[in-house]
Amino acid sequence: MVLNILHYPDPILAQKAKPVDKLTPELRALIGDMVETMYEKEGVGLAAPQVGHSVRLICLDPTGPKERTNLMVVFNPEIVAREGFVEDEERCLSVAETSCKIIRSDKITVRGLDQTLAPVRYECDGYLSRVFQHEIDHLDGKTIVDHMSRLKRTMYEKKIKKWQI
Ligand code: NI
Repeated sequence: MVLNILHYPDPILAQKAKPVDKLTPELRALIGDMVETMYEKEGVGLAAPQVGHSVRLICLDPTGPKERTNLMVVFNPEIVAREGFVEDEERCLSVAETSCKIIRSDKITVRGLDQTLAPVRYECDGYLSRVFQHEIDHLDGKTIVDHMSRLKRTMYEKKIKKWQI
């Protein structure tokens, strides 16, 4: 089922999501729905808070909706090592009609649990590293808006206020 994506400034997006320690049928269904939603919305990553569930679960596929050849589903992802910095432009399904240049770590090591709650570890760099960091930000209540300069953020807040009227 394709889920509704919450948009900034929805308060769920600003919450710190809770770790998962037990796999329930609801969580299994949520994984399937999140993957379907990510591909349908042409995203390369999605975090559970974006669909209204404040739990530490992300899915990502840097190959995108056309290829769909590198799907990863990770519970409780944690960055345990970082190396170097790189700046690039990012967009977010929850932050409409804007983008933001963000400096991220270049290479990272991510530890977490897979779909069966077995430990997994990913060493990544480049685009995948960036997507991981973006999605983990969501679990900590952060979006690309939190990376904007004060001026850019003020202008963006003004723009979305107009949409809400
Ligand atoms: Ni996002």
